[in-house]
Amino acid sequence: MTQRISGKTTICGIIGDPVEHTMSPAMHNAAFAETGLDWVYAAFHVKPDELKAAIEGMRALGIAGFNVTIPHKIHVIPLIDRLDPPAEKIGAVNTVVNRGGILTGYNTDASGFLRAMAERGIDPAGKNVVIIGAGGAARAVSFVLSESRANITIMNRASGMERAVTLAEAVAKSTGGNPGALELSEANLKQVLKKADILVNTTSVGMSPDCEQSPVPGEYLRPGLAVYDIVYNPVRTKLIREAEAVGAGTISGIDMLVWQGILAFELWTGVKPPAETMKREVMKLL
Ligand code: ATR
Repeated sequence: MTQRISGKTTICGIIGDPVEHTMSPAMHNAAFAETGLDWVYAAFHVKPDELKAAIEGMRALGIAGFNVTIPHKIHVIPLIDRLDPPAEKIGAVNTVVNRGGILTGYNTDASGFLRAMAERGIDPAGKNVVIIGAGGAARAVSFVLSESRANITIMNRASGMERAVTLAEAVAKSTGGNPGALELSEANLKQVLKKADILVNTTSVGMSPDCEQSPVPGEYLRPGLAVYDIVYNPVRTKLIREAEAVGAGTISGIDMLVWQGILAFELWTGVKPPAETMKREVMKLL
């Protein structure tokens, strides 16, 4: 799978700070090799005070497209030319496409989140969905679920309740839904999970190296609930393992990670990438 870079090779990549742990180059370069596209994907370490210059550089160099990761997903918006409407509503961009010097921003984290659900046959319309966390990831997830007509409840720990309330209000305003905001307490979790169809963890609780932590006590999980953990390292978090143990459905963050990549690849190249290869490359790195 050796890739040779020539004068005709198209370049895309990712900007972030830090960026050296990204799995996207492995995922996309394997897909380019398999599809025979003369493209290459590189990682660019861009510090916040260099973001503006980096975006101008992308344009000047004719970089075909790029992913945007922490901490640039919001600050990149005023620096690009157009926004896909969902990215505009969410207020965050993770994928930029350069078409003849016009940079358009998309949010494939959000669309990838939904595609991973659809792949499991889960349609959120009319479902009761409990979202744990109220940060950047919760924002994308809350908007797309509410747009998909799910009834969502956003839960955040007491110290961050203000964020949950603000997010619920923003989602209500933009989608016409009626999201709830609740404190992340055991009593509240016990209550809401009785009526929930889907539980989504958007916090980093359970992420390596804290693999024995879970945002939700295992005894509140039950069959009939679908549990979606956006944490992908480890692939099977404590939350996912406990959900499996009670016979609940599960979706791993790895699926969302791969789907955001698949959708970005399609936006840049117009070609459907080999999903299995992309997933395999990511799994190799975990
Ligand atoms: P991201 O962009 O990845 O969503 P973020 O914006 O920092 O990251 O948001 C992290 C979310 O995880 C927040 O909802 C945070 O709660 P606060 O708003 O109260 O900070 C939540 N979170 C992080 N660590 C947590 C923990 N140990 N227990 C519960 N929630 C936690």
